[in-house]
Amino acid sequence: MTKKRVLSGIQPTGNLHLGNYLGSIRNWVEHQHNYENYFCVVDLHAITAPHDPQTLAENSYTIAALYLACGISLEHASIFIQSHIPAHSELTWLLNCVTPLNWLQDMIQFKEKAIKQGENVNVGLLDYPVLMAADILLYQADEVPVGEDQKQHLELTRDIAARFNHQFAKKQPVFKLPHALIQADGARIMSLTDGTRKMSKSDPSDLSRINLLDSPDLIEKKIKKCKTDLERGLTFEASLQGRGSANDRPECRNLLTLYMLMSGKSKETVAAECQDLGWGQFKPLLTEATIEHLRPIQAKYQEVMTDKTYLASILESGRDRAATIADRTLAEVKSALGFSQVGS
Ligand code: TYM
Repeated sequence: MTKKRVLSGIQPTGNLHLGNYLGSIRNWVEHQHNYENYFCVVDLHAITAPHDPQTLAENSYTIAALYLACGISLEHASIFIQSHIPAHSELTWLLNCVTPLNWLQDMIQFKEKAIKQGENVNVGLLDYPVLMAADILLYQADEVPVGEDQKQHLELTRDIAARFNHQFAKKQPVFKLPHALIQADGARIMSLTDGTRKMSKSDPSDLSRINLLDSPDLIEKKIKKCKTDLERGLTFEASLQGRGSANDRPECRNLLTLYMLMSGKSKETVAAECQDLGWGQFKPLLTEATIEHLRPIQAKYQEVMTDKTYLASILESGRDRAATIADRTLAEVKSALGFSQVGS
């Protein structure tokens, strides 16, 4: 039986943090043996915000190395860099011409980023979700494991695919409609300095996130300084009443979730262990669990980075495998749109 296909990606903008890891890579690793997987480093997306050309290529290598360090296995997955496959850019153009402008103007992430970037809003930022749709649709992916913030982009991808099929490929659909795979726990990890905001690479304060490559000392410092509240006794239900209620403790729920996922303990075990604890007792537990969870990932990362030639060869064969599928889909799209073909 052929396996279903998974495609996902991460932007090479800075270091990866626990949100990226828990919202996406951890799930790729956990389920990789069930699927035929394609994991890309989406460097074309990274230039929609101001970027440094001196570090772009290096950052892409870092992310690819982190995929391997976190446990992506070449037995199950192809790893590649988006810009190495021209079909991503070409399909984006073709999809641009079937995507209504107002669909893009309604995207939450565009609105948020546009506010952050102020004067610096380029067309690429608006078009970001079409490029993401192209990434996914080129590979006819069945499932796309992502964090919760990508849900709307996945819905848009399905809408674009359905519109294309309806307008140009009614008899024989060209695109498969993909599903978002969003986990119940860890799909939205919050900032360490404000439990109501998402942990993010673009937060100006590095204290707001734990990066996968942070040293044990730095992890300890960040957890020591992280925002908590004045209550004793830590529970997951602390914020079920919703934001603004008397019982709202977003930091509490976030830190317990981090502890659960870093320690590998069940929710019940963590709930029982922490129900009577104060923050002073809890923080060392979270620190220890985080350092221990990240230790083997950091060691493997160092190992991978010592042999860049090997890493380059992995990316080259990943590119070749991915390009075969991408080029096939692109040819079908162009044929459905009526483009002339060489030799025809
Ligand atoms: P990026 O690089 O911003 O995020 C990469 C992945 O990390 C998840 N994520 C989080 N999950 C939980 N809590 C958080 N605080 C958190 N912050 C980030 C994101 O949901 C994402 O899964 N647009 C994508 C990149 C992309 C892509 C694709 C993904 C481009 N093309 C095709 C899947 C398929 C993004 O947000 O990247």
